[in-house]
Amino acid sequence: MSITTFDTSGSREATAVGSSRLELDTAALEAAKRSLEKGAVTPSYGPWREDIIKLLNGALATEIVCTLRYKRHYFTAKGLASPKIAEEFLVHANEETAHGDMLAERIVQLGGEPDFAPTTLTSRSHADYDESLDLQAMIRANLIAERVAIEAYGQMIKLIGDKDSTTRRILESILAQEQEHADELSDWLTP
Ligand SMILES: [Fe+2]
Ligand SMILES: [Fe+2]
Repeated sequence: MSITTFDTSGSREATAVGSSRLELDTAALEAAKRSLEKGAVTPSYGPWREDIIKLLNGALATEIVCTLRYKRHYFTAKGLASPKIAEEFLVHANEETAHGDMLAERIVQLGGEPDFAPTTLTSRSHADYDESLDLQAMIRANLIAERVAIEAYGQMIKLIGDKDSTTRRILESILAQEQEHADELSDWLTP
């Protein structure tokens, strides 16, 4: 490790201890020239690639269940007192679908397989499906699901940290939209 100290007059005094430097790993650059079948996956992903794919598949299942729940609520709420809220459920449904597509695309870029298997969807999703018939119950169920998604994405972003900056940026952009969803829902929730 290299330590740089400053004396009280501000002049610089470098003390080199050990050899940890900001230098590229040239062996990894060479390795990147090989294994072309791995597409965008290069050696810096190291042992985290499979864990990241697993996290992304959990998030994908959640987005699909959220899409289904919002669609169910949109069509069920259309005839109720607040058509504007029903329309907003549809907007959310489409945004959750777009989130799922971003996650599936990233899973494939990482050399994984996006899991769309319908039989295991609800058990793999972090958030629940809901068949409420009352508008306020729908809003409440959606707010709970959004809060679960916000917590899950926050944890994933922390876990991934600097291990995969592309995935982290995707998760951060999805998280921002889930926070907007939760804000809107809590505005509509009657105390
Ligand atoms: Fe989402
Ligand atoms: Fe959402």
